[in-house]
Amino acid sequence: MSGKAEIKLDGNSYELPVVEGTENEKAVDIGQLRAQSGLITIDPGYKNTGATKSAITFLDGEKGILRYRGYPIEELADKSSFLEVSYLLIFGELPTAAELESFQHEITNHTLIHEDFHKILDGFPSSAHPMGVLSSMVTAMTAFYPLSLDPNRSWDEVKMSIIRIIAKLPTFAAWAYKNKIGQPVVYPKNNLDYCSNFLHLMFGLPSTDHVIDPVVANALDKLLILHADHEQNCSTSTVRIVGSSQASLYASLSAGINALWGPLHGGANSAVIEMLEAIKEDGGDINKWMNKAKDKDDPFRLMGFGHRVYKNFDPRARIIKKAADEVLESLGVVDPVLDIAKGLEEVALNDPYFVERKLYPNVDFYSGIIYRALGIPTDMFTVMFAIGRLPGWIAQWKEMRENKEPIGRPRQVYTGANQRPYVDINKR
Ligand code: CMC
Repeated sequence: MSGKAEIKLDGNSYELPVVEGTENEKAVDIGQLRAQSGLITIDPGYKNTGATKSAITFLDGEKGILRYRGYPIEELADKSSFLEVSYLLIFGELPTAAELESFQHEITNHTLIHEDFHKILDGFPSSAHPMGVLSSMVTAMTAFYPLSLDPNRSWDEVKMSIIRIIAKLPTFAAWAYKNKIGQPVVYPKNNLDYCSNFLHLMFGLPSTDHVIDPVVANALDKLLILHADHEQNCSTSTVRIVGSSQASLYASLSAGINALWGPLHGGANSAVIEMLEAIKEDGGDINKWMNKAKDKDDPFRLMGFGHRVYKNFDPRARIIKKAADEVLESLGVVDPVLDIAKGLEEVALNDPYFVERKLYPNVDFYSGIIYRALGIPTDMFTVMFAIGRLPGWIAQWKEMRENKEPIGRPRQVYTGANQRPYVDINKR
């Protein structure tokens, strides 16, 4: 505890403890406020509400800082691998060489999925969005691994559920894509690393091996690291709140996938490309679309711009922009949509509307561009984000369980009708 805050209302005063985090962030603990005074606090969208104390990710939106377990995102993106970062997030420390090898071995040996999953997959029409298929497949894991239903089982059993989902999510994702385009699925290859195996699953055929380009596999690995956790965002809060009811790990993760799907969250990466394509189709007049974004009567927003917490720059966007430039150059990609993206970025960064509201390109502005260059189809972009965010969701779910957090249950300020008598149907 660090000091006290005071609320004064109607001649009464209530003292509230102030808690302080390891980076000196202060918060007023209102846990006892209602018991003392009958008051609750209200904060739609939780813009100023801390839902938990967490030791996983530190983020300073003003300074553009992002750290996983204390390690700067810049260093992790440069020096680490996605599976190493996954271990760090979930277990709290960087693995030793032996620990990492064992973790990688376990993941690699659980990539195969039960043949009966084909029956579920086959039930989806080709019009199915891969995010819907992905969340359904993750929920279906509860049927194939019924022990996973109980989150209170031994740590070894919970850990096995964690290994299984990290191993199998890329297989589900790639099979959802294959189902959509009407191609036969291919089986995982255990001699490949995590991202190379995913590329094989996506682009291989039973008759022909896909030649893995290390530039593409490395870029993908970096993208997954950048997405691996982002503290209490919409999907992570969803995972924690669903898990707080003691629903299973897979049920909680499936809910997180659905929360990520929306265009204001993970769905922004595909929305960016759809927007850039629409601008191109419309003749490429950037100013016309900028004016639409600024018009309060027009629901259009510039996708890939703005962030709830980053108000100067998104550190992930800086890393990914550099990686995008390198990948595009290395692969020799020429894409007219990229010119529109660059033009839009330049105009927006100098436009008073965007400058005053501190709206900068976020990670999804560039991730869409890079995924496109890597040959990932647009409706798979958010699926890529889900694969990246998976270890973060798991780490946050595990922390919520270990902290024995109570069931999430916000209150409300009621604004509906006061009590009134029931009116007979003939008299309405
Ligand atoms: N284009 C035009 N105007 C915008 C935009 C935008 N992309 N983003 C925010 N604004 C305006 C908004 O209209 C409001 O203006 P005013 O003060 O005049 O009413 C002001 O900026 C503040 O916006 P807000 O909606 O109150 O901010 P928020 O913190 O609730 O929303 C956001 C954050 C990310 C949902 C929003 O910026 C947005 O919709 N951006 C586009 C979608 C997007 O790129 N999302 C990906 C986020 S990064 C990936 C992730 O972590 O999920």
